Amino acid sequence: MSWRVLLAITLLGAFVAAIAFLGEGAADPGGERFGNGGDGPGQLTALTVDATSCQDCHPEIYAQWASSQHHHAYLNPDVRETSADLTNQNCIPCHAPRPVYELGLETMPRSRSTHREQGVSCLSCHLIPGSASADGVPRLAGSRDLPAGTCGLPIVKTPSLGTYRSCEPCHNQHETTNQWKETPFAQEGSAYRSCADCHMERREFRVAKGSAPRLAWDHKMPGSHDRDFILSALDIEARLDGSALFVAVTNARAGHHFPTEERSRAVDIMVEWQDAEGKALLEAQRLYRLRDPYRGEQGIVRTLLPHGQTWSQTIEKSAQPAGAKKARVWIDYLRRPYDPVPDTHRYRLFERTVELP
Ligand code: HEC
Ligand code: HEC
Ligand code: HEC
Ligand code: HEC
Ligand code: HEC
Repeated sequence: MSWRVLLAITLLGAFVAAIAFLGEGAADPGGERFGNGGDGPGQLTALTVDATSCQDCHPEIYAQWASSQHHHAYLNPDVRETSADLTNQNCIPCHAPRPVYELGLETMPRSRSTHREQGVSCLSCHLIPGSASADGVPRLAGSRDLPAGTCGLPIVKTPSLGTYRSCEPCHNQHETTNQWKETPFAQEGSAYRSCADCHMERREFRVAKGSAPRLAWDHKMPGSHDRDFILSALDIEARLDGSALFVAVTNARAGHHFPTEERSRAVDIMVEWQDAEGKALLEAQRLYRLRDPYRGEQGIVRTLLPHGQTWSQTIEKSAQPAGAKKARVWIDYLRRPYDPVPDTHRYRLFERTVELP
């Protein structure tokens, strides 16, 4: 075989591989891909479409992200169940998003067609696609400038990354960033805490393979799937006040309402009145539910607890059932408030039995 034929075969092979790569996700009517908005095809590289291309050099951050809800966003069974298995196209823009820097941070991102299984990927938050940069060269948003030799794409210092603005394209649908703006955390000064300050732990690790460990941002981003993290927001009381039962929940440390954002979250504050032997006198009673109802739900008011506020209730002796000698008080966090709520969607945040006089 002549070298010309060999070359032709090699080129053909590369061409077919490229087509196969570009064809991925071709079933998507949205059609366009990461970094492809007006870029020349030469700039459409693995680094602009596939989060696993960051994995070799950033193994620790990749592992943090891989265990986060951001990574699960597209394959999450709860998302699938509520979106007709993601045939509902309205759900794709945030659960498999193209880069937020493509349309700008004031706008919800567009749906991605490639690597949807990666959910909210490294590229969703870090890639500044060629179509959004003056010279058409795709870059990665970072906290300082670094040459293309470091990551394969140039890193550009981007002050918006790490502020609430880089979360807002997806996290203000139900006003979480608006709620944050009303808290002391949004005010300049010593109280200032951005979304990332609370949701990205600062700790020592290797940012890139081979680099020395340093203080860096953890990408695990805990939220409602982490009981201890939820509890860290709250001060809870359940005690005797004279002969009355006093129960209180304060949103002391969340940077927004408690709970926030997703409307299928609820917090139930419960009491069970018992006799001296601990036998229930009546069916357990719900004292209060914190919740933001769906638009279609009639007769339910919005009871989310704003930052710094307390819900409390005092139940006087006269309002307690006759013969009540104990009150078992508990608080459950429900990721889905529809009965029956499976254990995987419910945490017991607090439980205490108060002896009554
Ligand atoms: C491109 C869209 C997008 C951007 C930008 C984004 N997120 Fe998210 N985020 C999501 C989606 C979608 C989920 C839910 C995924 C799931 O659970 O299926 C989520 C989940 C989370 C969770 C977990 C919530 C829970 O209940 O467990 C936290 C915390 C979070 N994001 C924080 C942030 C922060 C902080 C920023 C900004 C630095 C940010 N996100 C930027 C889309 C985004
Ligand atoms: C504007 C962006 C956006 C759109 C559009 C969107 N989501 Fe989400 N979704 C989010 C964010 C952000 C979260 C995390 C919120 C939280 O944890 O409170 C989330 C969380 C969820 C969760 C909770 C997952 C869990 O593990 O608890 C479900 C379920 C969900 N979304 C379903 C849907 C469905 C169904 C649609 C389409 C009808 C949709 N989403 C459209 C941004 C979006
Ligand atoms: C060939 C190895 C390599 C690849 C591939 C790579 N990076 Fe990097 N990256 C590095 C090194 C080395 C640093 C500097 C590490 C440090 O600061 O300790 C870095 C730094 C960064 C920074 C931080 C800049 C700053 O200081 O604020 C970001 C953001 C980043 N990379 C994102 C990515 C993303 C996203 C990908 C995948 C598209 C990626 N990198 C692929 C090697 C790589
Ligand atoms: C939801 C958005 C989001 C996703 C997804 C995301 N990042 Fe980040 N990343 C950030 C934010 C915010 C920072 C902090 C920037 C700042 O304030 O300097 C950051 C910081 C970094 C840094 C610098 C670390 C440091 O502390 O200096 C690197 C490197 C990085 N990200 C790489 C990645 C890689 C690789 C992935 C995918 C495995 C990824 N990121 C996924 C938002 C995100
Ligand atoms: C002062 C710390 C702090 C700040 C600032 C903060 N959060 Fe939170 N966030 C928490 C805590 C603690 C929780 C757990 C309690 C809860 O659910 O409210 C939480 C929960 C969440 C959840 C998941 C649970 C839910 O209630 O739906 C999401 C999503 C979220 N935050 C997004 C954000 C975004 C976006 C911002 C910035 C606009 C932000 N947070 C700012 C501390 C903070």
